[in-house]
Amino acid sequence: MDIKTTNDRATWLQGPAAVCSTPPQVHSQWRLLLLGAPGVGKGTQAQLLSQRLGACHLSTGDVFRAAGSRAECEQTPAMAAATHLMRRGELVPDSTVWEMVRERGVCLHCRGGFLLDGFPRTLNQAESLKRLMDEEGLALSAVVNYELPLDEIVSRLSGRRTCRLCKAVYHLTGQPPKREGMCDRCSGELIQRDDDRPESIVVRMEAYQRLTTPLIEFYSAMGLLVPVVASGSPEEICRRSLSALEVHV
Ligand code: AP5
Repeated sequence: MDIKTTNDRATWLQGPAAVCSTPPQVHSQWRLLLLGAPGVGKGTQAQLLSQRLGACHLSTGDVFRAAGSRAECEQTPAMAAATHLMRRGELVPDSTVWEMVRERGVCLHCRGGFLLDGFPRTLNQAESLKRLMDEEGLALSAVVNYELPLDEIVSRLSGRRTCRLCKAVYHLTGQPPKREGMCDRCSGELIQRDDDRPESIVVRMEAYQRLTTPLIEFYSAMGLLVPVVASGSPEEICRRSLSALEVHV
């Protein structure tokens, strides 16, 4: 099913004062987490799954990047520190991430459902999310864990380009835009992320192995984990994800 009403994510990207202009209408609400190493394709799948399921794509990385693109005088000290850590490939402290997510708690009630991408990333964050969702009477539908060998992941990261405006994701060879350097959706400029430099990629992979992989066991023990092989074209992986979710629920 293709919903074709992508939520503009205004509340998530700009903060609780902003109102989303195109909240999706859906029959069933999916509340999903997307897990997997940096560059495995979580953001790409979130875009596709969001079109199919109507669930809003909530990426913590996108919020930090949006804050980082503001002038320094407009950033809180915590956001300025987060931007600095992100560029080096390090994780932002749990307290800053949680403050940001909690502020946007209304997005967990989105009537389209949600696809959380890049959060939670540590056991602390996962436990905080579970507490909040329990308190608010919300339950996760599933946690999709994307799996791919490291060499393929590094090649995806080094060719990635992202729209400066709407954050849509491309790849120089695997998923090129129709016009070079320009976003198909909004004609925004395509840029390379600071943390896709080789030295930052090493730091990100190390942080993933040490702090995020324990979440696989955490969600497996809760009966929520849905492993999906992330090789093939984005469309193939999306179809594989949807089939795996159908079997799971
Ligand atoms: P974040 O933005 O979450 O980055 P990430 O997890 O490192 O994931 P990426 O966005 O790099 O990759 P992806 O898996 O989404 O892959 P994509 O679809 O783009 O976080 C960035 C930083 O913010 C963190 O390092 C940290 O500092 C901070 N942060 C964020 N959340 C945090 C948290 N909760 N706690 C602490 N710190 C936090 O695909 C990659 C490339 O591959 C693209 O070019 C794409 O076109 C291409 N591609 C995708 N699928 C395919 C395919 N099937 N075939 C060929 N190419 C493909």
